[in-house]
Amino acid sequence: MGIRPELGGWGSEGGGQAGLRKEPPVYHVDRLHALLGSAGMILFGVRSPLVVEYEETIHRLGLTISAAVSIAEPARVQDRSKLLTLDEFDPAAFSDPFVSAAFAPARRRTLIELGEARGMTLAPALIDPTAVTARSLRVGDGSLINAGCVVGAMSILGRGVLVNRAASLGHHTVLDDYVSIGPGATLAGNTHVGTGAMIGAGATVLPNLRVGAGAVIAGGSVVRRHVPDGALVAGNPAVRKRKAPMRSTLDDPDGE
Ligand SMILES: CC(C)(COP(=O)(O)OP(=O)(O)OC[C@H]1O[C@@H](n2cnc3c(N)ncnc32)[C@H](O)[C@@H]1OP(=O)(O)O)[C@@H](O)C(=O)NCCC(=O)NCCS
Repeated sequence: MGIRPELGGWGSEGGGQAGLRKEPPVYHVDRLHALLGSAGMILFGVRSPLVVEYEETIHRLGLTISAAVSIAEPARVQDRSKLLTLDEFDPAAFSDPFVSAAFAPARRRTLIELGEARGMTLAPALIDPTAVTARSLRVGDGSLINAGCVVGAMSILGRGVLVNRAASLGHHTVLDDYVSIGPGATLAGNTHVGTGAMIGAGATVLPNLRVGAGAVIAGGSVVRRHVPDGALVAGNPAVRKRKAPMRSTLDDPDGE
């Protein structure tokens, strides 16, 4: 069965694996508003259909979008009034932080790294006001917890993480950087998902399991065993498929 993750996982406060890396800050909506002031937010990359969800959460949080930067056609942002091409966009003209939307972990990471390479600051995490999150939640910058999610106590989410609509994360969940959780997925308590892994829509991961870095869990699967790094697993019970995750439909530029 491989390793059994200890409760927590990023640093000393969460229990095991102490000192692995700097913990993300405890989330508080006041921090988000304090950092943003009355200013807005830059949407950097608007090709993903998911960008409309980021717009909705930004709206529900009472924030505004100051620029929507199109890096590759088509632009799928709802409000096209702030749309700029990458050539038209001058980061020096904006003081606002940015977020990047894409369901595939590798695409979101690429966008975030491109934005940071242009000198922009990644925004604090966006947590939809309809999500229910524990007071103890730690979550890194550039992450989104979308509408209707529930995040259990003592959970730690990294940077650039996406938790899509109505997903449920149990207590002591650890999601490393750039993880994507599909809509309606359920992670039971004390699961640890490695960097850049994807859990498909409606999948279930049973308690105390580790999903390896870069792994892909197909939609609707029921995961009963640890998943190795870079594996694609599917079905109930989930079994390993020969296909490499990075050659799946997730790698389609318009893929979801
Ligand atoms: C896992 C996934 C990425 C694979 O996509 P793909 O590249 O089209 O892969 P394939 O269709 O070639 O499937 C590979 C294998 O996995 C199986 N498989 C794929 N998805 C499956 C699923 N949901 N349940 C059971 N088996 C599945 C296929 O039958 C195939 O099995 P085989 O090799 O035994 O024939 C995709 O099926 C998936 O589940 N995506 C979820 C995306 C999602 O949740 N998005 C949310 C956006 S908000």
